[in-house]
Amino acid sequence: MVNSGKSTVLIGLQYGDEGKARVMDTMLKDYDIVARFNGGANAGHTLKVGDVKIALHQVPSGIFFKDKLLYIGNGCVVNPMKLLVEMAEIEAHGLMLDKRLLISPNVTIIQPHHLFLDGLLGGTIGSTKNGIGPAYADKAMRAEGSQIKNIRMGDYCSDPEKFKEIAKQNLLKVVKDHGLTIDLEKEINEFHEAMLKIKKNISSDILFMEKAVSSGQSVFFEGAQSVMLDVVYGHVPYMTSSRTVAAAAYTGGDLSLRYHHKTIGVAKAIMSRVGNGPFVSEFGGSKSETYCMEDGGTAHMSESENSDGSAQDFLKSSDWFEIGKGIRMLTGEYGATTKRPRRIGVLDLVMLKQNCRLNGVDELYINKFDCLNIFSETSLEGIPLVVAYELDGKQIDYVPSSEAECRRAKPIIKYRPHITEDLSGMRNYSELPSSVKDLITFIENFVGTKISGVGVGPEREAFIRID
Ligand code: GDP
Ligand code: IMO
Ligand code: MG
Repeated sequence: MVNSGKSTVLIGLQYGDEGKARVMDTMLKDYDIVARFNGGANAGHTLKVGDVKIALHQVPSGIFFKDKLLYIGNGCVVNPMKLLVEMAEIEAHGLMLDKRLLISPNVTIIQPHHLFLDGLLGGTIGSTKNGIGPAYADKAMRAEGSQIKNIRMGDYCSDPEKFKEIAKQNLLKVVKDHGLTIDLEKEINEFHEAMLKIKKNISSDILFMEKAVSSGQSVFFEGAQSVMLDVVYGHVPYMTSSRTVAAAAYTGGDLSLRYHHKTIGVAKAIMSRVGNGPFVSEFGGSKSETYCMEDGGTAHMSESENSDGSAQDFLKSSDWFEIGKGIRMLTGEYGATTKRPRRIGVLDLVMLKQNCRLNGVDELYINKFDCLNIFSETSLEGIPLVVAYELDGKQIDYVPSSEAECRRAKPIIKYRPHITEDLSGMRNYSELPSSVKDLITFIENFVGTKISGVGVGPEREAFIRID
């Protein structure tokens, strides 16, 4: 341990899309390896550096640091075709990946049948249709009789022709079970070709991370999705299929927890959720959920919504649904992966506190502070914050784990003084108006965790560190 490196874990504390990637981007210079430990192409992690704006799905968010190694850990599920497209997109920006992207041999492969199954069955949840649920289900299933269901990267590489045939049989079963008319040979051949191309990125050594960190290198673990989408802490069935909590870095990252250094949590000042499921602090409640998820979320995508009317007019409405719509338009909350409208909600401090405690968050970062001045254009008496829930006539200070109870819970809201200034050009804590400093202190005291930085814009430099 004398000369060993350290490992830091960053996770999202709400429903995803808190701006995890942009927070990481401000910290990576001190690390050697950036690693993913859960999820797959369902993630959309946006980075805005100079003129380049890029949403990463499977590749860890260290792309702008040319000397960093990027590692995809065993807890992830990887779609080889999508990965190649993403790598090509990144390389088109002159950011070469060839020698620095490494995939754990124990990563589960997203097979073609997972994508078809998710397309057929993921609708109720509002999944991203990336095959995530079916792939993790097959991982747990392992095999059905003698038919292997879970194919891992290392297995495929050990005998590509054998595992191509297994993937084909898995697809054939789904085609028969669901009466699909597809070009099966084409689907399997494309998948196989992609697997052969990414073979060179697959590590054969499961000790790779341990060897690197024990010899002094440091790793930054990048969580995908977020605690409220965790397969255990989320609400059944409105969750993803992986563990998204901080501890999952040490089961899905091919590293032992002896190197753990600190846990970073990321939230955003105005919350969002994509897909179905309870959302206590949502502007417009179930009306917003139904509207945003109409036709699987495709009915009100960015362009169509923005031609509906003026965002400022929506903000002035006394209907919280309309206020949410105006906020979505002004803050550009549309999915980085699916372009669906994100449901918008008040910052929920009950949830934030719970997730900081459950994960032992050492440092909290809150993005989108620049968006809080939007409330001063509404008729609301101040910036709304959820400080407790009322469930069946009783006040509670936790998020009910039952979906039905969570849907019954009513937010108890407290208002803090409006922020009227434009924060987007500010770079130092000392420049922040007193209303912002007071809000930061209020949140810190409520949650019991220090706020170590706030985002004031999507650009890399639009970030204020608080010492
Ligand atoms: P991630 O999945 O947690 O990495 O987050 P996403 O990239 O999906 O979503 C975050 C969105 O918010 C992106 O469009 C970012 O560019 C944007 N963003 C992040 N931080 C800020 C901020 O402080 N202010 C503003 N205005 N936008 C931000
Ligand atoms: P990042 O890493 C926001 C949501 C989907 C759906 C549910 C299940 O960018 O924060 P899945 O495809 O995983 O089976 O979908 O989870 N979801 C996300 N929402 N951000 C994400 O990732 C998400 N990944 C999945 O919208 O409701
Ligand atoms: Mg995202």
